[in-house]
Amino acid sequence: MLKILYVCLGNICRSPIAEGTMRDLIAKKGLSHKIFVDSAGTANYHIGKLPDLRTRQNAETHGINLTHSCRQIDIQDFLDFDYIVSMDTNNLADIQVLSLIAFGKHQPEESCFLLRKFDLESNQTDSVPDPYYGTKDDFENVYQIIKRSNEAFLNWIAKKHEY
Ligand code: 4NP
Repeated sequence: MLKILYVCLGNICRSPIAEGTMRDLIAKKGLSHKIFVDSAGTANYHIGKLPDLRTRQNAETHGINLTHSCRQIDIQDFLDFDYIVSMDTNNLADIQVLSLIAFGKHQPEESCFLLRKFDLESNQTDSVPDPYYGTKDDFENVYQIIKRSNEAFLNWIAKKHEY
C-alpha cells in the first residue's frame, strides 16, 4: 500500500481537505486498495477535534464528508508514509527540523515536499494559504487549490507507480 500523509499547522482546515479530496479522487480511479491517505498537524492545538466547521461545510458543498480526527505528526510517520505532503513552507520547515532531531537528517525532497509542487496554476514554491482567519471565499479558494493539485499529484503517482 502506498501511503500519503498531508500536513498543515492545525490539522483542522487544509490537510483534512487534502486528505478528503485525495481519498475521493483515489476511489473514483478505483485505487482505494492501493493508496492510503491520512493527515496530521505540526501543532497540537486541536488534537481529537473534527475539522473546522467552515472546512466541513465547504467540503460538503463539493460532496465530500470530512470525519478526520485531528492528530499531531509523530516521528513514526516518517517511517510509515511514502509521501509527506506539506501545505505551506512553514509546515515543511517544521517537519524537516523534526526529522533532523529524530533521525539526524532531513527527509529527501522526493518524498517530502509542498503540495503546490503539483499545482499547474502556480510556481512550485507556493504555499496553500491558511484560511483560519479568512472568509468563506478563502475556504473555497483553498479547496480549489488543493483539489487541482491533488488531481495532478494523483496522475503523477499513477504514472510513477504504474497504477
Ligand atoms: P490549518 O489551519 O493549519 O489549515 O488546519 C489552522 C488551524 C488552526 C490554527 C491555525 C491554522 N490555529 O491557530 O489554531
